Amino acid sequence: AKDPVRVLVTGAAGQIGYALVPMIARGVMLGPDQPVILHMLDIPPAAEALNGVKMELVDAAFPLLKGVVATTDAVEACTGVNVAVMVGGFPRKEGMERKDVMSKNVSIYKSQASALEAHAAPNCKVLVVANPANTNALILKEFAPSIPAKNITCLTRLDHNRALGQISERLNIQVSDVKNVIIWGNHSSTQYPDVSHATIKTPSGQKPVRELVSDDDWLKGEFIKTVQQRGAAIIKARKLSSALSAASAACDHIRDWVLGTPEGTWVSMGVYSDGSYNVPAGLIYSFPVTCRAGEWTIVQGLSVDEFSRKKMDATAEELTEEKALAYSCLS
Ligand code: NAI
Repeated sequence: AKDPVRVLVTGAAGQIGYALVPMIARGVMLGPDQPVILHMLDIPPAAEALNGVKMELVDAAFPLLKGVVATTDAVEACTGVNVAVMVGGFPRKEGMERKDVMSKNVSIYKSQASALEAHAAPNCKVLVVANPANTNALILKEFAPSIPAKNITCLTRLDHNRALGQISERLNIQVSDVKNVIIWGNHSSTQYPDVSHATIKTPSGQKPVRELVSDDDWLKGEFIKTVQQRGAAIIKARKLSSALSAASAACDHIRDWVLGTPEGTWVSMGVYSDGSYNVPAGLIYSFPVTCRAGEWTIVQGLSVDEFSRKKMDATAEELTEEKALAYSCLS
């Protein structure tokens, strides 16, 4: 039998945490034959709720779940973890300045970076979900210098999956027949959902989305806007932000990273930019990636037209500004 993998979920008493931990315990994230030990972290005001989640995990009698650590101590939570899913953070509340929210999250991610750096298992893979996800991941990277930059990522898979969903709804086809959309940039409303290279499986082979969706105005307008604004639409409908889809996307992200992407398919991940596609190096930016043997690689050589270039640059600019704001909170 395989040794259990230790998976940290921060903010585990929150909405996404509540949807995510049972998925992990069922093998959705790491596979149906991989035992797991869950490490759940939250803050003292949520300690009782966190303990309730632990009770429910016991009650669910998951065969793959070999242990549960539920704690408000970051060091205890981070010790020995192989995968860290960072969902905990400080949400923007009414009347708060952007800088104040950033400042709170910078200090959370700075201290959790240190706990991970000192106590996580070697080669721990980190996924930041909490917003501002790209910049929180960048701060985590800066303050955990011994964790390789390639091990620190942020979640844009939800946006990627939303783009797949919109195409499948539009064409009235199975979502599993759509692939290779791209989310470029920030997990924010400046993200660029790009279908330039996306394809659809048809009885006569793979066909470009751009050929099957003949309405270019929809692809360049409403489609992009719908994906960018989907988070807000969910909040409006549910009075709560996306949780099950975010949890599912986090599982997809880690599963593909660890177990690999299917041949001929790429996914979107927020990763440390090496300057590919003229995206400034040193930002955590969402790129198309393929994964093999536990490592992601940015898909190279895709053509970028003028329309795409502008949108890719605009979201990079926002990330550069966010980075400056985050650094100003440090001093
Ligand atoms: P939530 O407010 O229900 O849960 C957040 C949890 O984090 C709470 O239990 C809170 O006590 C905890 N927390 C706060 N500070 C913490 C700290 N320092 N250490 C550990 N835990 C801490 O929020 P929800 O809906 O679960 O969302 C979590 C985050 O994910 C938010 O920042 C949200 O904006 C973000 N998000 C990101 C998405 C993405 O695609 N990247 C999609 C949806 C949400």
